Amino acid sequence: MGEVDSMSVSQADRIGYLALRRDGHIATITIDRPEKLNALSNRFWADLRAALAELANDGATRVVVITGAGDKAFSAGGDIAGFSEMHGQDEMRRFQIDAMEGFDAIERSPLTIIAAVNGYALGGGCELTLACDIVIASDDAKFGMPEAALGLIPGFGAIRAASVIGAHMTKFLVATCDHIDARRAYEIGLVQKVVGKAELMDEALRIAARIVRNSPLALTVGKRLINYDIDRRSIDYSVEAITVLQDSEDRKEGVAAFLEKRPPQFSQRKQ
Ligand code: COA
Repeated sequence: MGEVDSMSVSQADRIGYLALRRDGHIATITIDRPEKLNALSNRFWADLRAALAELANDGATRVVVITGAGDKAFSAGGDIAGFSEMHGQDEMRRFQIDAMEGFDAIERSPLTIIAAVNGYALGGGCELTLACDIVIASDDAKFGMPEAALGLIPGFGAIRAASVIGAHMTKFLVATCDHIDARRAYEIGLVQKVVGKAELMDEALRIAARIVRNSPLALTVGKRLINYDIDRRSIDYSVEAITVLQDSEDRKEGVAAFLEKRPPQFSQRKQ
């Protein structure tokens, strides 16, 4: 068997909470932590980078579908309990850099990456869809960037969403913390196709199969060109701003309130 043939059998691997399955030129990454609505653990970003690097170098994979385990969530975002385990700005900055490098790894990957959103895509889960190249959603999916209810903001989403859904819609989602349904997400350009829940993976794989027919080189160049716009300075600013927010009293109160299942009592501080 040649290199590609030996990869063509479906294989399942595991990196942390990620399950990897490869089938010919198409791979699936499943965020597999359904009991916590696929919340992204602090090591998620390193695991995702490792998975993407492995797939980019396996000689076969050209398209990756990312989805969530279970029927409730793609991902409900960063692990809120994990936030309260971080101590000191060095650790908080390291975490934020790690997350930004994860989004960057998706955007710079030579592979085409499809998000198949099977439920909640909130906070980091929504940002993950923004970093992907194409987003397919089940009709019960819900999107939102509700970090401000925790005293935070979406560090990557605040930069990237403006070019996907416009600055005002981004501000609307960030400021209200509203969840929007799949139909609304489609209308504003966050999602490219909405399908029934039972058809989600089949549809994502059908789209992947159409992409696989095209030139891998042209697809990589096209993706790089379309993603060219993010300025290094806005990433640096985002990392520093979120490090300061992570260390704020409002964030501590927001996370405590979430974990205690009560409304937060934020300070009146604005700057
Ligand atoms: N981080 C850590 N744990 C999370 C989580 C997150 N982002 N989102 C959900 N969970 C956990 C809950 O704490 C709960 O754990 P428990 O059973 O041990 O108490 C479990 O997942 C199920 O969530 P629950 O809140 O009970 O489900 P629900 O159906 O009542 O509500 C959501 C679903 C998505 C509306 C709600 O979980 C939520 O608002 N999550 C946070 C979303 C968010 O703010 N994301 C941005 C983070 S920066």
